[in-house]
Amino acid sequence: MSDLSWPHHLILVGPMGAGKSSVGRTAAALLRLPFVDTDHLIENASGRSVTQIFAECGEEAFRNAETVALQRLLFIPDSVVATGGGAVLREQNWEYMNAAGLVIRLLVTAEEAARRTAYDVNRPLLAGEDRLERLRQILEERESWYARAPLVLDVGHRGVPDVAQEAVSIYQQWRGTL
Ligand code: S3P
Repeated sequence: MSDLSWPHHLILVGPMGAGKSSVGRTAAALLRLPFVDTDHLIENASGRSVTQIFAECGEEAFRNAETVALQRLLFIPDSVVATGGGAVLREQNWEYMNAAGLVIRLLVTAEEAARRTAYDVNRPLLAGEDRLERLRQILEERESWYARAPLVLDVGHRGVPDVAQEAVSIYQQWRGTL
């Protein structure tokens, strides 16, 4: 029997360039669930872009807003959630995410993530010279946090529909066996 008092979101974690938003959008369409991007929740609540928040208020303020956005998952209808790449970095965030649904990690190499974010200008942590090196560093620093996810999907060179379909199957199985 499923516990109806808790939400059952499908929550994607992983670094920038892992494909959380594109996979999340496709999975949401397949499941006929709303799609939620925590970066967008934060932007809508503050009226500023992620880049502006980093520049004007600092990373800590962004992280606080991110924790609030993850807590909100406990009070909104089931959805597919793309988190920001740093959502894994706080113990409290994990408590919210684990209470809010099924967390799936999208596993990606630094090379693949660098390729996918090559033309992106809206990621303050990737601003600067050597993007690949920066991503290598971030992946290494965060590995133990990402490794907490109970399920892992290797993105490799696979297409979005393929990864999304697998995420959907895992989610449906999880819901069916709660
Ligand atoms: C961040 C990832 C970004 C965004 C912010 C910080 C990170 O989200 O939350 O720029 O710390 O890895 P995406 O993973 O969707 O790019």
